[in-house]
Amino acid sequence: MEYFLSIIDLSINYIMDFKEVKYLGKRNPAFDYFQTKGKYRTIFNGFICHICRIIPSMRIKNKLYRMIGVKIGKNVVIAAYVELDPYFPELITIEDNVIIGVGTIILAHEYSQDKVRIGKVHLKERSLIGAGSLIRSGVTVGERAVVAAKSYVNKDVKNNSTVGGVPAKIIKDKND
Ligand SMILES: CC(C)(COP(=O)(O)OP(=O)(O)OC[C@H]1O[C@@H](n2cnc3c(N)ncnc32)[C@H](O)[C@@H]1OP(=O)(O)O)[C@@H](O)C(=O)NCCC(=O)NCCS
Repeated sequence: MEYFLSIIDLSINYIMDFKEVKYLGKRNPAFDYFQTKGKYRTIFNGFICHICRIIPSMRIKNKLYRMIGVKIGKNVVIAAYVELDPYFPELITIEDNVIIGVGTIILAHEYSQDKVRIGKVHLKERSLIGAGSLIRSGVTVGERAVVAAKSYVNKDVKNNSTVGGVPAKIIKDKND
């Protein structure tokens, strides 16, 4: 129990991009999810994230996401069936004019059998996340960067570059 409380502290006083902590329980950390963040908060966030998948109005959708702690700038488009992390939505920052393609998954946490990873995700201004991509916890996507459709992004993406694939690699770099 003490161990999980330390995770909660980390999520509040966050200073690093991501943190991995060992699981000391008897089952597995996903089954004990309610000790990571609290049962009712997680269920409520999960419900909001679930209905946001099919809400057509960007204005309403963005307001609901802000209500559960996601930091969302102006003119952000989050397409249908996007899944934002319901456990740590407050660790997700989406700057102005970002587009997130249909079916993308953005994770701020990651359960393994013996450890939990928790990390901020930062999508900077005018970045584009291609449809069906997965953004890992701890990742920053730079300004005007493009993530090709169906990519797995496990490392930071530089400003103005295009990455793609599983795991994502640089396809184009306008800085060169
Ligand atoms: C990355 C992307 C923008 C490139 O489109 P484009 O500028 O028209 O360029 P091309 O399709 O000619 O691809 C450029 C190169 O990137 C490669 N590439 C494209 N997508 C790739 C992917 N997912 N993984 C690996 N390489 C990829 C192409 O093979 C090509 O390589 P080549 O020059 O060696 O042939 C586009 O493929 C894409 O994924 N767009 C996402 C759109 C989207 O999902 N929007 C949100 C929902 S509407």
